[in-house]
Amino acid sequence: MSSRAADQAASLRQQIERANYAYYVLDTPEITDAEYDRVFRELQALEAEHPEVFSPDSPTQRVGAPVASAFAKYTHKRPMLSLANAFSAEELAAWEERNARLVPEVRTAGYTTEIKIDGAAVTLTYEAGRFTVGATRGNGEIGENVTANLRTIADVPLTLKGRGWPRAMEVRGEVYLPYAGFKRVNEAREKEGEPLFANPRNAAAGGLRQLDPALTRKRRLRMFAFAVEPTEGTLPAGTHSEVLDLLDAWGFQVEPHRERCETLGDVQRQIASFEHRLPHLPFQADGVVVKVDRLRLHGELGVVGGREPRWAIARKFAPEVAVTRVKRIEINVGRTGALNPWASLEPVQITGVTVSAATLHNEELIAQKDIREGDRVEVIRAGEVIPQVVRPLLDGVDPATRSAPWRMPDRCPACGTAVERPADEVMRYCPNASCPGRILESIVHYASRGAMDIRGLGYERVRQLLDTGLIGNVADLYQVRSEQLIELDRFAKQSADQLVAAIEASKGRPLSSLLFGLGIRHVGKTVAVLLARRFGTMQALMQASEETVNAVPGVGPTIAGAVVAFFAESRNAELVGRLARAGLTFSEPGAGGGDGALAGRTYVLTGTLTTLSRAEATGLIEAAGGRVASSVSKKTDAVVAGEEAGSKLEKAKELGVEVIDEVELLRRVGRGS
Ligand code: IVH
Repeated sequence: MSSRAADQAASLRQQIERANYAYYVLDTPEITDAEYDRVFRELQALEAEHPEVFSPDSPTQRVGAPVASAFAKYTHKRPMLSLANAFSAEELAAWEERNARLVPEVRTAGYTTEIKIDGAAVTLTYEAGRFTVGATRGNGEIGENVTANLRTIADVPLTLKGRGWPRAMEVRGEVYLPYAGFKRVNEAREKEGEPLFANPRNAAAGGLRQLDPALTRKRRLRMFAFAVEPTEGTLPAGTHSEVLDLLDAWGFQVEPHRERCETLGDVQRQIASFEHRLPHLPFQADGVVVKVDRLRLHGELGVVGGREPRWAIARKFAPEVAVTRVKRIEINVGRTGALNPWASLEPVQITGVTVSAATLHNEELIAQKDIREGDRVEVIRAGEVIPQVVRPLLDGVDPATRSAPWRMPDRCPACGTAVERPADEVMRYCPNASCPGRILESIVHYASRGAMDIRGLGYERVRQLLDTGLIGNVADLYQVRSEQLIELDRFAKQSADQLVAAIEASKGRPLSSLLFGLGIRHVGKTVAVLLARRFGTMQALMQASEETVNAVPGVGPTIAGAVVAFFAESRNAELVGRLARAGLTFSEPGAGGGDGALAGRTYVLTGTLTTLSRAEATGLIEAAGGRVASSVSKKTDAVVAGEEAGSKLEKAKELGVEVIDEVELLRRVGRGS
């Protein structure tokens, strides 16, 4: 074990524990959110790089989903619980047995059965019938404030219909993407050469966490509501069935396949009749939730371990399995050089979909499961839309007739370079930066929608341009002429002109798109936006020291190191030089050192902002050239007041300093809608 890594992990864990204590227990945060996120990510990265220092009680393991810095944290007024599972009728019966020992009345109090929607859990706060704040589940106690994104979802009522709602309440529900929408989103991504979502749940969760609400809106997410937690006042309901009726009457969408059952026997029959219909619903469902109907009993039964209520349980079903044959084990070389093995299969139907390929994850799993070419295998599509090979079926198979155990090649299948396997990783990498496999993936990534958005430049086209020698890297794209394309197969005058025009149009894309498109390690879209806003121009970023990059809120040392290392490589610097000469703009609207929209202005933040964390608001103001001060004086240009703003707001009013809200701030920094 590397003792340096162990010491470092211990120190980071201590910092996080201390910060948690100050934040959650003492209610007086000692460090900023950005600082916290930085330490947290550093620990995550360290644990990923050095599995030997990993520990199951590390703070990285405690939170279900780490609260990312791009959204403000939101503390749920009542914890968002999860559910225990029952995988058989027997386990469900045992659940009633256990409950009846605590509260015999459960046997006769009735149950409801509902579909378990597989999406992203959300909570919506309503005060006096109006939607005020919405958040993701996060770790169940603290989630992310995604109010602006939730407002774009048509199923989220902004004001309630009917009557009888408690003065304040949290409505719990699931945001999901129906299969049809999932197909639409992935088809668009495929066309653009973007990585596909593995399942609708990921597409929904990702949609909720977009930095730009317009992108959430475009994904056309839906929501079903399934519970209410009153925080002020009471619910006019004695049973959960009545709660669902109320939600429906107030204007929420409630999943229609819900039933009230008198006894557990009815529940079991209901479930049996439903099991086979589940895969045919228009959205992904991963079971049936059974709830004790009488609300009074919920309190009496209580919650196990602060996490799972006794009064509800998820009945899950074994995923649908199909049997087919592995034709070949193939390898796809990713943009980073990672060699990803996958199985090409004899086509087979699973839950109504023809499957002809399945992921094999990595060589260790292939060896562990002993999957070989030619084997008959079980394949599942367990709600997961990317199918997986479960195991080979070897009963009655003569071992001598099987092919040899599969081995990861020592040479990259795309370029023949000897592959490398970093000491503590399961993946092998092709180290050749000019590997055609890597180049293909990196150009497709460059052209993809979140990056330079070059319409019509997906896998097929990029492969063709590479094969014909028209391009070798992304800078070459800008030299391609329509007359050259017309010479190629499957190009007509119109499609050639269109592609050249699309490439030309990409010259004006913002810096953040370019930074993301360049494929710098650890620089995803969110980080690219943070960097672009802070530095404004490519030149400023290229000249920045590791320290300066590290100081950007939301950026940690790992990212800073990767960014600086990228530009330090002469090949990359040359590429950027060629892109500049090709006429790319390289700038970020609304950002920039000293000449931004807020140049020379001093702002003060007070209260809790709805969609931005303090660090993010500060970052936006600074990126627009402004300064953030901690106290209000006559020199303050404006105070940005959030919820529960206190003395600073008073002071601003007293001094006649302008007071604005978050929406106005976003507008001023060029991020308004
Ligand atoms: S009730 C008290 N009902 O499943 C428990 N949850 O695995 C609150 N879910 O976090 C959940 N459909 O996001 C309930 N009809 C349904 C549900 C449902 C989906 C999700 C929910 C929860 C997760 C637990």
